[in-house]
Amino acid sequence: MFEHKTQPGWVAVEEFLTATVVHPDDALQRAVSSAVEAGMPPIEVSPNAGKFLQLLVQISGARRVLEIGTLAGFSSIWMARGLPDGGHLVTCEYLAKHAGIARANIEAAGLGHKVDIRVGAALDTLAALQSEGQEPFDLVFIDADKEHDADYLDWAVRLGRPGTVVVLDNAVWEGAVLEPSMDEVNAPGIISALELLGQHPELDATVIQTVGSKGWDGFALARVR
Ligand SMILES: C[S@@+](CC[C@H](N)C(=O)[O-])C[C@H]1O[C@@H](n2cnc3c(N)ncnc32)[C@H](O)[C@@H]1O
Repeated sequence: MFEHKTQPGWVAVEEFLTATVVHPDDALQRAVSSAVEAGMPPIEVSPNAGKFLQLLVQISGARRVLEIGTLAGFSSIWMARGLPDGGHLVTCEYLAKHAGIARANIEAAGLGHKVDIRVGAALDTLAALQSEGQEPFDLVFIDADKEHDADYLDWAVRLGRPGTVVVLDNAVWEGAVLEPSMDEVNAPGIISALELLGQHPELDATVIQTVGSKGWDGFALARVR
């Protein structure tokens, strides 16, 4: 399995920033601890990234959010909290076990009425959402299996509208984007997604590098034209 490497200074600064600025509450801490207790991988976004997602939902005025990759609901809770009354978040999760734990965490956070967890392969769920003729999504957060990242970007455009905000997590992956042999499972998908972001006729994008408890990584931020 591909390992993310951290440096003590990055983690200490992140902990300081989390405690000083971000203040994740009990419901968010529960989403992290319940995943550890259930033996799920600790691959949720960091608290400062979660708060960033919540702020993006608020700044963009999003009423409808689509998430690909739920895990235990940590990022779902952050984003759902940024939604106005009547706002809605659809989150796609392949594993029923993860979806069940996420559902309990989202309910405990008092957000069950705002969040719809769809279990199954995201590509199937995204096609189903299109068939259902749902209103366009205002913000899409992509954080699932990296091999399908480029497909998910295409779906974000199809299920979005001009102005839809797209966030693609894990866009740097310890620098494996320059050296795919570091992670032959995930790096090629991330590289394809970055190439698509750079040339997609309907997307304007940038990528921000980050360091912290999740190692050296980054996220792409895009807007549908
Ligand atoms: C990185 S975790 C998501 C973390 C979550 N966004 C957070 O920050 O709290 C990725 C999740 O995507 C799920 N996943 C992987 N492949 C998937 C697929 N093809 N369709 C839907 N979900 C998938 C995994 O089971 C895992 O729970």
